[in-house]
Amino acid sequence: MERNLFDLSEETAVVLGGTGVLGGEMAKALAGQGARVAVVGRNAERGAARVAEIKSAGGQAVFQKADALDRRSLTDACKRIEAELGPVSVLVNATGGNRPDATLPPGSPFSRLSLEAWRDVFDLNLIGGVLLPCQVFGEGMVDRGKGSIINIASMSGMTPLSRVVAYSAAKAAVINLTKFLAREWATSGVRVNAISPGFFPAEQNRTLLFRDDGGYTERGAQIIGHTPMGRFGEPAELGGAVIWLASPRASSFVTGQNIVVDGGFSSTTI
Ligand SMILES: NC(=O)c1ccc[n+]([C@@H]2O[C@H](COP(=O)([O-])OP(=O)(O)OC[C@H]3O[C@@H](n4cnc5c(N)ncnc54)[C@H](O)[C@@H]3O)[C@@H](O)[C@H]2O)c1
Repeated sequence: MERNLFDLSEETAVVLGGTGVLGGEMAKALAGQGARVAVVGRNAERGAARVAEIKSAGGQAVFQKADALDRRSLTDACKRIEAELGPVSVLVNATGGNRPDATLPPGSPFSRLSLEAWRDVFDLNLIGGVLLPCQVFGEGMVDRGKGSIINIASMSGMTPLSRVVAYSAAKAAVINLTKFLAREWATSGVRVNAISPGFFPAEQNRTLLFRDDGGYTERGAQIIGHTPMGRFGEPAELGGAVIWLASPRASSFVTGQNIVVDGGFSSTTI
């Protein structure tokens, strides 16, 4: 009989930013299919909480502290993870986010945008979010001829959101780099894809979407109004796409793709 297409019991998965809301759910989803999971991030307390959640559900997980913007820190983390869990075959890049001064305030001219904020957002989403981890973890995958890399981009990387200038441009670059690496490693047994989430309430966007009393902000209401499904996403709803792309059997001929999970937001103009 055919093995379960989505079985990940032979995989070791690293989830960078697994300390965060979306990365944490992705780590749980991978562990739920049998993967040995390394939750990687800067916050040991949150990392330990994620690992405890996974273990209490019967999964296998460890926390490894690392700064995605520091090559040395990633290289050390990679060595420790491989010594403990075995060769890494799945990498989920879920570090990223925006900063308020990289978004244009209403009526503010583009020429006033802070270059420092722009650079920070590009560093976080493109260099720490994709470039360095792909260099550090990708090297071993290419040597072994096996791997799946999943970069978390954003729906705003395809069509820029109003005012969200640096983040949208950085996520567009994430999608572009994903396609570049997919081609670069296509014959090396390493697949590289992106997932572009729509709007999922998380720490980094809570004040953008919700007022203190729990109601929607004007922007939150606008977004819901433009989402055909009429709601925000639940972080666990990204699990299926991650499991599918991670599985060497379920998505063996899929590389260079950007899978959009957004309740239909990007499929309509009104
Ligand atoms: N929440 C959404 O609606 C949404 C939508 C589209 C895309 N995304 C993307 O999904 C990814 C995860 O976002 P989230 O909403 O879960 O945010 P989050 O802030 O909850 O998670 C991001 C995690 O990355 C960690 N991190 C930040 N800088 C790091 C560094 N230098 N080294 C190591 N870890 C670092 C943070 O500590 C945090 O745990 C990001 O790339 C984000 O841009 C989120």
